[in-house]
Amino acid sequence: MTQHDLIVIGGGPGGYIAAIRAAQLGLNTACVEKESRLGGTCLRIGCIPSKALLESSEKFAEARQKLAEHGVKVGSVELDLATMLHRKEQVVEILCKGVDGLFRKHKITRCLGHARLVGGKVSVTDSGGQQELSAKHIIIAAGSKPATLPGIEFDGDRIGTSTEALSYSQVPERLIVIGGGYIGLELGSVWNRLGSKVTVLEFLDRILPGTDSELAGEALNLFKKQGIEFRLGSRVTAARFDKSRGVCVVEAEGAQPLECDRVLVAVGRMPATEDLGLETFGIKLDSKGRIPVDDHFRTSAEGVYAIGDCIPGPMLAHKAEDDGAACVEGIVTGYCHVDYNLVPAVIYTHPEIASVGKTEDQLRADGTPYRKGTFPFRANGRARTLADIDGKVKILAHQATDRVLGVHILGPRAGDVIAEAAAAMAFGASSEDIARTCHAHPTLAEAVKEAALAVDGRTISL
Ligand code: NAI
Repeated sequence: MTQHDLIVIGGGPGGYIAAIRAAQLGLNTACVEKESRLGGTCLRIGCIPSKALLESSEKFAEARQKLAEHGVKVGSVELDLATMLHRKEQVVEILCKGVDGLFRKHKITRCLGHARLVGGKVSVTDSGGQQELSAKHIIIAAGSKPATLPGIEFDGDRIGTSTEALSYSQVPERLIVIGGGYIGLELGSVWNRLGSKVTVLEFLDRILPGTDSELAGEALNLFKKQGIEFRLGSRVTAARFDKSRGVCVVEAEGAQPLECDRVLVAVGRMPATEDLGLETFGIKLDSKGRIPVDDHFRTSAEGVYAIGDCIPGPMLAHKAEDDGAACVEGIVTGYCHVDYNLVPAVIYTHPEIASVGKTEDQLRADGTPYRKGTFPFRANGRARTLADIDGKVKILAHQATDRVLGVHILGPRAGDVIAEAAAAMAFGASSEDIARTCHAHPTLAEAVKEAALAVDGRTISL
């Protein structure tokens, strides 16, 4: 049996960052991953391939609809879907190999197989057999998997999750997306741009629950203009593939059944915490299947920690990464902290939607007194030059202290622009601090400065 200082279960962004940080801090570290490629959902079938397709499909849409206004004539534009999918796979391959390289550099032992906690140890099973590992510390970074709905008959092809929707070999004529959340809107956007008639069925009367409702409402109108159809307040109860007619049939409460070629089910994700042998260590899951941990990522079992999507908190790759590094630092130094209120969230539609901190809805519900400053991209010089003027920046600051409580951006490259807001908030900035920071001209970030000025009613450029 091999003895390590630390065993990390899971090789996704939570697990591989934890393993690398542990090796940096001198721990003899092993990482167990059941898939042949390291990188987890994010690299293999999540963030990275979806962003590759979002980028490619946006270029296709631009070439068809937007280049002419820049005076660029391209003639007829054709889609080569096979090349687009191949490029996506290459991007994934390069990044997964990059993690392999980092493991070699840091001398992390890589174990291929399914890990289970058994009798105080970790048992790893793969097609070749079983091996046992033991360590003083174990970090569970097992991630999450797509949530399912009763009545949906997944067939791994016509009716599937984001995994299938990243690799449709043909553009579906009609695509029904169940769920108007992150995945539904990102992958719905991809196939809409490539020519599908996309219909999003969303249970709630709004899209993107949890996102600032004012911005989500504006985004909804923009997505409709792009040709995506939305049926809000639609609770889907069944979806099946009718083989005899070769169509998928989707049923929602109180509505006529809809027919389409493919169905993407994107109704959330759930922690992948089953079959880990947690019970052998006396670890009990919460009502959502997550592993309860304290503020140092410690589970109820001595020496066992959990991070990322399988514990409470936002299910985002960068949150898992921060959990991973912090957890290991906590093990080695006794101190660690991740502030989940400062985890930025980005939806990579066009325009992008990015936020950090409290939404206006939350501040209202909590009764927190706040002032609000907004600035539209149509008044931003850089956005004009990009011909990308939809959306705005919204800054929410405490009424008495002016401390920034939340920043919400709908607009071009919002996912990059939000980094400034997250950094400012991490240092406890006031809106005045942002307003007095020199921002380069012409940049999209100037809209953040103007929104900060607007908190105090002194916007310059509007
Ligand atoms: P989500 O939680 O964002 O959205 C799921 C949507 O499905 C909700 O709007 C919900 O109301 C709706 N829904 C649930 N049951 C329904 C029913 N029976 N009929 C119709 N609608 C129904 O979940 P999503 O999009 O699946 O994403 C999963 C996770 O992955 C999220 O937690 C997200 O944070 C993460 N993710 C992050 C990305 C990013 O950072 N850009 C990209 C993709 C995913």
